[in-house]
Amino acid sequence: MNASRVTTKAAAAAAACQAHGRALLPSPGGGGPSHRRSLGTVRRISTSTHFYQNKHLEAYASKPATRLTLRQLVYFGKYMNEERLIKSANYVRTELPVRIAHRLRDMQALPYVVVTQEGVAKVYELYWTAFDKFRRFPEITNLQENDAFCESVRGLLNDHKSVIPNLSLGLSLSSPYLLPDRLDTFMRKMLVSRISRRVLAEHHIALTQFLKSRHRAAEAHENVGIIYTGLRVQDSIERCATYLRRRAPNTEEDALSGPLSDADWSEVIVDGHKDTRFAYIREHLEYIIFELLKNSLRATRAKHPTARVLPPVRVTVVASDNDVYLRISDQGGGLVSTGIKSPSDLFSFSHVRNAARLADARLGALRTLSSSQQGMTATVSEQIGKWQRESDADVPADGVNPHPRIGIGLPMSNIYANYFGGSLELVSLDGYARRFPCFASPSLSFSDPERDRYLGRM
Ligand code: COI
Repeated sequence: MNASRVTTKAAAAAAACQAHGRALLPSPGGGGPSHRRSLGTVRRISTSTHFYQNKHLEAYASKPATRLTLRQLVYFGKYMNEERLIKSANYVRTELPVRIAHRLRDMQALPYVVVTQEGVAKVYELYWTAFDKFRRFPEITNLQENDAFCESVRGLLNDHKSVIPNLSLGLSLSSPYLLPDRLDTFMRKMLVSRISRRVLAEHHIALTQFLKSRHRAAEAHENVGIIYTGLRVQDSIERCATYLRRRAPNTEEDALSGPLSDADWSEVIVDGHKDTRFAYIREHLEYIIFELLKNSLRATRAKHPTARVLPPVRVTVVASDNDVYLRISDQGGGLVSTGIKSPSDLFSFSHVRNAARLADARLGALRTLSSSQQGMTATVSEQIGKWQRESDADVPADGVNPHPRIGIGLPMSNIYANYFGGSLELVSLDGYARRFPCFASPSLSFSDPERDRYLGRM
């Protein structure tokens, strides 16, 4: 179904309200429009009552977030002891409901037609539940209480795995009703905030585990919580490249040509400052590299269907005193065939900038993922790690690509890169595919918190 054709009375009412500068919210107890129409069925949304239970929400939403830098996270976690761990637990316990409250308020300010889109209501519900759980969790005073807290946070992290596909689905479907800038600003805030919450939660859980294992032989720890202090860029590139070049076919065109092997993909060549190490969250770096390499490998293969040997994909690493740069160059044809006007439109969730947002195949993939219990299953690093541990086989044991084609990879990569003060730039040199080595060339830069003067706060 083409979602641009979904027009309900609620949509019209909301559009009218919006035109008068008001946000129309669902009414409590079903007094107003409290249903939504989707795929020909009418389903009730259960969020409506929460919209008016704002007393607690407002108390939290009026507080500013207390942001930490990557550097602070590293230094705080480096010298871990029980007292510091309890401090960290209470910081997470009190900080996350504030951050979630801000996002709940943002959602409440959306036009009704957006709030009621498939997916958005579910995210609202998840956030409300998490907000309530954090708000009610008593102060943590000892390790045992911290264990219970970690258990509860683990559960929430798991429950929220479906947030991204649900949000992408809901906002894509809302695209006809929101101006592109408003839609992208909202989505960006939601995603950045989600990363920040997950970083804080996962970091605290990792610090807890670290403290538990401290009696083991004094091993040289490469990581503080979830931050790797000497992350070797080349290793991450090679891990992603190896995995991608052997992965099970997961696209229509791959499936048609049967199982693939290394020889079916471009070689990935790493050059430049190959020994570069820096402090970063490996999951974030590998998410970005994986996504960009995946695009490069696919595009090159599609662009050279009869080539005996495909042109290589080249990753150049450059490190200066304060920054690390990666450039990934391929000969895959650039953006010319995608109908995208500017590379930055690939980061947009608006169908005005990126028509694929309303493509049936993409909405279908989002619906499948949104309704699966798993949501986005394991992270890239987890999947690769599992595969490395388990397999002599040519394909991942579970044959699952952690990134099904839902159009979230590039916007998320951009947000991950920006997150600690870095950037991601896509350059498309259309028309030079067969002759020039650099075709579509995303450049990435990261700031090293151990050395950097500036660090983005999260
Ligand atoms: C999210 O993943 O969206 C979260 O907010 C996680 C948090 C509840 C720990």
